[in-house]
Amino acid sequence: MNILLFGKTGQVGWELQRSLALLGNIIAVDVHSAEYCGDFSNPEGVAETVRRVKPDVIVNAAAHTAVDKAESERDFAQLLNATSVEAIAKEAEKIKAWLIHYSTDYVFPGDGDKPWLETDATAPLNTYGETKLAGEIAVQQYCTRHLIFRTSWVFAGKGNNFAKTMLRLAKDREELSIINDQFGAPTGAELLADCTAHAIKTALGKPEVAGLYHLVASGTTTWFDYANLVFAEAKKAGLGLAVSKTIPVPTSAYPTPARRPQNSRLNTQKFQDSFGLILPDWDVGVKRMLAEIFAATKA
Ligand SMILES: NC(=O)c1ccc[n+]([C@@H]2O[C@H](COP(=O)([O-])OP(=O)(O)OC[C@H]3O[C@@H](n4cnc5c(N)ncnc54)[C@H](OP(=O)(O)O)[C@@H]3O)[C@@H](O)[C@H]2O)c1
Repeated sequence: MNILLFGKTGQVGWELQRSLALLGNIIAVDVHSAEYCGDFSNPEGVAETVRRVKPDVIVNAAAHTAVDKAESERDFAQLLNATSVEAIAKEAEKIKAWLIHYSTDYVFPGDGDKPWLETDATAPLNTYGETKLAGEIAVQQYCTRHLIFRTSWVFAGKGNNFAKTMLRLAKDREELSIINDQFGAPTGAELLADCTAHAIKTALGKPEVAGLYHLVASGTTTWFDYANLVFAEAKKAGLGLAVSKTIPVPTSAYPTPARRPQNSRLNTQKFQDSFGLILPDWDVGVKRMLAEIFAATKA
């Protein structure tokens, strides 16, 4: 089986290179690839890649993920998150390939406190959410065999992440103010990649599972509680931090170009029932990632 992976160097793409290897031969590309176009600013180029590779499965981990920047470059975000996705979906349909795509809780308005269901009405608060919603709709409209996974608060050991930023700030600052009125579940790129590989295996034998799913770790936290867990784990690991006080603040304390939803909770029952998987609590993955960061710091 041939699997075409777009966005191989992102947080999720990197982990997919590992998890998809169990399923078949991976042709992995990114924006800089020379042999096959992986540049989502070139819809015709990525469509041509699908035509040339003729994969059985396409996994798209590429996206315009700079949420604040998207506010000032709407057309570019639309090109990456929707136009190229549509071009790939149309080619996938022609060759009866599966298309696996990721979306976000930012398609929702973020009000209330109930975990969002797949059937809830969408109403994005920002450009990133609008363009990601357009991408979802294109996949649903043009490609029969699709799996769309809406996720949230993705972290990975590779690259920058919230925990690393907090640790950097906590080295020098005694007090830190952290947002405490946004609710969600930090979700590891590793978990997403493992779930994706399992879901593809299921879908190949059971095509009726095609559809849209919410996929995040279990449980709920805020950035404030998440940060406090990071500091507690750092102290347990013997890391010297200057921070002695954390102050919970509302979202309004840190104005950003893009509005953020307060309620990022996603109900994952449909995913767990359809694929026979149990999604672990969010802190399991965060503690594992922190242990790796601490081990690397000490090495
Ligand atoms: N991160 C989150 O918290 C989050 C939350 C909800 C949903 N999601 C969704 O989950 C999926 C994976 O996200 P992630 O966290 O792995 O994001 P990421 O680490 O930012 O990865 C996105 C990838 O897309 C690449 N990219 C940027 N411009 C491109 C272009 N013109 N052509 C091709 N590739 C391009 C990036 O390359 P460069 O690094 O070189 O720019 C990067 O490798 C995305 O669909 C995202 O919308 C993410």
